[in-house]
Amino acid sequence: MACTILVIYHSQTGNTRRMAQAVAQGVAEMEGCQARLLAAGRAGLEDLLSCQGLAIGSPENFGYMAGMVKDFFDRTYEQARGRKEIFKKPYVAFISAGNDGSGALSSIERILLGYQLKKVYDPVIARGGVTEEDLERCRELGQTIAAGCQAGIY
Ligand SMILES: Cc1cc2nc3c(=O)[nH]c(=O)nc-3n(C[C@H](O)[C@H](O)[C@H](O)COP(=O)(O)O)c2cc1C
Repeated sequence: MACTILVIYHSQTGNTRRMAQAVAQGVAEMEGCQARLLAAGRAGLEDLLSCQGLAIGSPENFGYMAGMVKDFFDRTYEQARGRKEIFKKPYVAFISAGNDGSGALSSIERILLGYQLKKVYDPVIARGGVTEEDLERCRELGQTIAAGCQAGIY
C-alpha cells in the first residue's frame, strides 16, 4: 500500500523548517512511503483527509504554537471533526523552541485530541537552535511513523 505522510510546519527563521525537512527525509527513506511537505498556511482539509499519517511541527511562540499552525487548525477543525478518514489517524509532533517548547507541544496535542488523531511516538523538541542530533531524531521520527503506517500497526 502506498503511504503518504503529511508533514506540515511553520517556521519564521528556519529552525522548524529544517526539522520538517529531516522528518520528510526519514519518511522518504522507507520503501513505498512518501512525504507531502507543506507550510501550514498552504495545507488544508484535503491534505489531512488523504494522508495516512501526520507529522506536525511548530516553533514555540509566547508559550503556544505558532499562529500559522493554529490557523491550519482553525480552518480545518469543523469539517474534519468526526470524519472517519481521520479517526485514529497516527500523528507525531516536533517543536523548535528557545528554551522550553512545552506550551507549543501541549497546545498542539490538546487540539489533536479533538480531531481524534492518535499520537504514536514521542515528540522531538529542539531547544536553543537545531543540532545535527535533533535533525537525526527528526529523521527517525519520520522513519518511524512511515514504517508503522506502511505495516498497518497503528
Ligand atoms: C515572537 C516569538 C516568541 C517566542 N516565544 C518563545 C517561547 O515562549 N518559548 C521558547 O522557548 N521560545 C520562544 N521563542 C523562540 C523560538 O521558539 C525559537 O527561536 C524557534 O527556534 C524559532 O523557530 P523557527 O526558526 O522555525 O521560526 C520565541 C520566538 C519569537 C520570535
